[in-house]
Amino acid sequence: MPRKRVAILISGRGSNMSALIEAAKEQSFPAEIVVVIANRPDAGGLVSARAAGIATAVVDHTAFAKDREGFERALQAAIEAHAADIVCLAGFMRLLTPSFVNRWQGRLINIHPALLPAFKGLDTHEHALKSGTRIHGASVHFVVPEMDSGPIIAQAAVPVLDGDTPAALAARVLAVEHRIYPLALRLLAEGRVRTVGNRCVIDGAPGADNTLLNPPEKT
Ligand code: GRF
Repeated sequence: MPRKRVAILISGRGSNMSALIEAAKEQSFPAEIVVVIANRPDAGGLVSARAAGIATAVVDHTAFAKDREGFERALQAAIEAHAADIVCLAGFMRLLTPSFVNRWQGRLINIHPALLPAFKGLDTHEHALKSGTRIHGASVHFVVPEMDSGPIIAQAAVPVLDGDTPAALAARVLAVEHRIYPLALRLLAEGRVRTVGNRCVIDGAPGADNTLLNPPEKT
């Protein structure tokens, strides 16, 4: 089967982007990264992408003040120029319009640093700490017009520890982000992700029968 062609959209340092690039170096990985597109010319991830030999493009949103459609047309053109089949948002900090999102329905995914549907939006680690939750994590989901709301493909949980700061918690979450994003992209590129309503069904995934407890029980 030909590998799926993937465009990654970033705004910043691009550590998730690098995790995807790294995973796709494996010939057996079912997707290849064909372009990294940033909406900011100073996005750190552009440097890492170029160093990895990946084509890059910048679609600077500030050049499209009050013209969201013009911005998205330019974005679409950059994606089409590389004939991408799948678009991965990886720390891409612009909201996309329903028209763009619907055009890419089922082929546009995002990583969010929380266990959705908890803690949508920004500052998830601060919100998790304030809430008192003992378990936090990350989610990879299909993008739908409503922010941080599409069907969830993969999630990973981490414990919240006594004395955690937002930065300490963010680092623990980021480590699992780098594991689930390549996993979710692989499942999607292999055609193993079906959606039933707002739920993803993963073909061939083993049933989970274990329970994660935090704090763990003493045995
Ligand atoms: C990650 O925490 C991601 O979940 C969120 O923004 C952050 C981007 O980090 N959407 P990076 O640019 O991938 O390092």
